[in-house]
Amino acid sequence: MKKLRVGIIGTGGIANQHIKAYMAIPDVEIVGGADIIPGKARAFLDGYGLENAVACESADELLKHELDAVSVCTYNSTHAECTVKALEASCHVLCEKPMSVTLADAVEMAKAEKKSGKILTIGFQPRYDENSAYVKEIVQSGKLGDVYYVQTGGGRRRGIPGRTFIEKRYAGVGALADIGCYALDFGLNTIGYPKPLTVSAVSYDYFGKNPKYYAESERFSVDDFSAAFIRLEGGVTFDFRMSWAMHMDTCGDFIFLGKDAGLKVKQPNLDLRGGAWDGPIGEITLMHDDENGNPTSTPIPLKHMEKSNLFFKKVLSFVTAIRENLPAPIPTSQIIYNQAIIDGIIRSSECGHEVDIVIPEI
Ligand SMILES: NC(=O)c1ccc[n+]([C@@H]2O[C@H](COP(=O)([O-])OP(=O)(O)OC[C@H]3O[C@@H](n4cnc5c(N)ncnc54)[C@H](O)[C@@H]3O)[C@@H](O)[C@H]2O)c1
Repeated sequence: MKKLRVGIIGTGGIANQHIKAYMAIPDVEIVGGADIIPGKARAFLDGYGLENAVACESADELLKHELDAVSVCTYNSTHAECTVKALEASCHVLCEKPMSVTLADAVEMAKAEKKSGKILTIGFQPRYDENSAYVKEIVQSGKLGDVYYVQTGGGRRRGIPGRTFIEKRYAGVGALADIGCYALDFGLNTIGYPKPLTVSAVSYDYFGKNPKYYAESERFSVDDFSAAFIRLEGGVTFDFRMSWAMHMDTCGDFIFLGKDAGLKVKQPNLDLRGGAWDGPIGEITLMHDDENGNPTSTPIPLKHMEKSNLFFKKVLSFVTAIRENLPAPIPTSQIIYNQAIIDGIIRSSECGHEVDIVIPEI
């Protein structure tokens, strides 16, 4: 089989997971990496024994090397520019989550994808968790009847990250996009990604900006808690909350209310840093009426998963889609709704009232 020529744009923290996964897939060649910090790509590649791979200091330079595919692992504010450049250079792209910072950027990415005819997939590895997929299977089976309300759960009690995540110029958005995008994806994907119509939201930065709770408070310029009330097509309400820090262990469980039954999804044991909704599931309970019409609760046994590497599955699904000419595993047609909600939450929080969500034609 002809080797798939792959490059990594942005060789920081998460690039390690990408390169390990690519290196574990047969017939994939790591051609090179790029990072705007001088020497960073070289050190990264050498760390994996890839002394012959090319190290570049810009995406443009790397894209001259006739690549088939790239992972975009830069911080959020440069996802769009790097993804568009790679698609214009005829590469398939696996872009890290969140898709971008603004809806306008996400639209540009989706347009470049359409024009190129290449795959653009967004890296939501929790999709490959078997119990998350099982929750979707239960809801899609019709057991709940029509679902009219979804409440997102989780949230960190103390878990503000550092580095590039807390500055607007790099991350663009804080907890809302960093881990909020996972809760949005889990809830929306479970009910079939209906289109968002309006959002009323609030965002705060009380912990990040307070030196009592966060040592780098002077550098902190994003949100650490957001809550939003989102109207979706089909009369569905989406009640969202997510935090990096708060005086609470959780904002609650994930709940799906249907006309015939409800589903409660709990996280595994919450600790002080847990609750991002980016990993495993703890309990699933069906709330319904028994044959005599009495409300009852039925625990649904979890799938017994072998210890699996969600990151490997995410990268493998991208490589498989390229090789077998399949559609993008996690398509922009869905994730653009996720980004539109994040964009709407920022706008609504800034203006102090409900805003419409208008998604341009791609
Ligand atoms: N899927 C996950 O579980 C997961 C986990 C962590 C981070 N992420 C995502 O991955 C992305 C990166 O996170 P990280 O922790 O690796 O950040 P990081 O800051 O450690 O690394 C980002 C790197 O990108 C480089 N970069 C920025 N713009 C560039 C450009 N235009 N061209 C080339 N290089 C550029 C930076 O210099 C930096 O080295 C973020 O979007 C984050 O949300 C995903």
